[in-house]
Amino acid sequence: METQEEIKRRRTFAIISHPDAGKTTLTEKLLLYGGAIQQAGAVKGKAAARHAVSDWMELEKQRGISVTSSVMQFDYRGYCINILDTPGHQDFSEDTYRTLMAADSAVMVIDAAKGIEPQTRKLFKICAMRHIPIFTFINKMDREALSSFELLEQLEKEFGIGTYPFNWPVGCGQNFHGVYDRQSRSLLIFNEFHHGQSRISAVEYSIEDKEALEEILSYGQYDNLLEETELLDGAGYEFDIDEVRSGRLSPVFFGSALNNFGVEQFLNRFIELTMPPLPRMSGETEIDPFSDGFSAFVFKIQANMNKAHRDRIAFFRICSGKFERDKEYYHVQQKKLIKLAQPQQLMAQDRSIIDEAYAGDIIGVFDPGIFSIGDTVCEKGMDVIYAGIPTFAPEHFASVERTDTMKRKQFEKGIMQIAQEGAIQIFHEPFSGIEEVIVGVVGVLQFEVLEYRLRTEYGVEIRRRDLPFECIRWIDSAPASPDRLNLTSDTKWVQDYKGNNLLLFTSSWCINWAVQKNEGLVLREFNQD
Ligand code: G4P
Repeated sequence: METQEEIKRRRTFAIISHPDAGKTTLTEKLLLYGGAIQQAGAVKGKAAARHAVSDWMELEKQRGISVTSSVMQFDYRGYCINILDTPGHQDFSEDTYRTLMAADSAVMVIDAAKGIEPQTRKLFKICAMRHIPIFTFINKMDREALSSFELLEQLEKEFGIGTYPFNWPVGCGQNFHGVYDRQSRSLLIFNEFHHGQSRISAVEYSIEDKEALEEILSYGQYDNLLEETELLDGAGYEFDIDEVRSGRLSPVFFGSALNNFGVEQFLNRFIELTMPPLPRMSGETEIDPFSDGFSAFVFKIQANMNKAHRDRIAFFRICSGKFERDKEYYHVQQKKLIKLAQPQQLMAQDRSIIDEAYAGDIIGVFDPGIFSIGDTVCEKGMDVIYAGIPTFAPEHFASVERTDTMKRKQFEKGIMQIAQEGAIQIFHEPFSGIEEVIVGVVGVLQFEVLEYRLRTEYGVEIRRRDLPFECIRWIDSAPASPDRLNLTSDTKWVQDYKGNNLLLFTSSWCINWAVQKNEGLVLREFNQD
């Protein structure tokens, strides 16, 4: 197949949700339909969402299994689908943010009984920032649910987007009988509840088939459906593919991932509506994914995926052209020609070395410690540099130092490498060395992971002192040097390891104070280096 054809059939998306809404279950079902796995339960890593630190550590030991499920590729009806899984635990939401940078669209799973939850809100913001299409799967319709109209209203009001339901549920909980497909004007009636491994058998009825439907459905459901769909047709948003593709209109699907209800219909529509790889910006220039030259950027680095080999893998999202294994490519940040060693594609538990890959694909590459998140690699002479991945403001801070004075090198190496992976962010007080480091994380569990990894991978014990700061801001511009600003006494000036100046605050009140008392001070919540 021609390169262009290969790229055209790529669909690369991330599945996002608040923990427990059903992301893992839906992912599994999509893989089942795609024939990529034979039975539900094959996607590991779900336990990572189950909080307890001890669980996480245990899982960490089996990391080779758990994280390889983070990218899954399969063929379905002529399309080549790349699903980017995102970590379930909210403490690892930074990883999710970065993964979203590699996706061309997102599927947002919502628990029908709960509606929008905090994590959904955060993730939505990131999608909206990139204007990527967002598809909504309203899950768990087999349980008692909020009213479908109320759910749509939540999405519209909170997120400021339009919604277009492709299907409409008939009942919920015990009375969930099926879904009405608005385009074909037919009802898919599910005739059995099963937490099935395989495709569900559903019977299709035309909406006109009043007699049969009244018999099957619960009392009043048929009339109710007619009323509701009339309301939708009359008062709902019009379907407009351009609005979908610019992220302003979200196609909505109702179903139950656990029971396979509505999953296949969702997948079929989704691949038609979503887009092949989107162009990306290199400075002011838009890089066409279909152009011949290969280019890619690093969106994730994962160390020690296989303890036996102490390896580190950099994950690249290919943005244009075709990747070939034996070719040399230009590493823009290091200004060097390199070969991407041991390029591999990951599928559930398996890794396989690949010879070629195309725009839209994700490849894992052996990283001898040369890559950082956001780095660009491209065909020689192509002159591309993709915008870095934003660093989000951590919310918890601690000062960290090693307990053994002999282990300085290991400590520095460990903490730098873990920071390069993006698992933590590190700061220091200006004019001080790396003896004592201020570590910022989005979720406190990351502190424990840091301690664990420094001990097991680098042989360093640390002492950690939690700091009272809650907010951090990058200084965009300031009327004076940071030490001369008028700040509350509990505000601290720090630098990141690239030398950027930041301020640590104990409350948002102190941020307001700083901005009010220092005319010309501009602060930013995330960094785009
Ligand atoms: P997550 O990845 O978003 O965190 O959610 P996950 O798929 O792990 O699902 C969370 C829980 O919700 C699981 O139950 C799962 O079985 C259940 N679930 C997912 N989809 C549906 C659905 O359509 N209907 C119903 N009723 N439940 C659903 P669990 O008891 O926590 O785990 P498990 O013991 O079933 O594995």
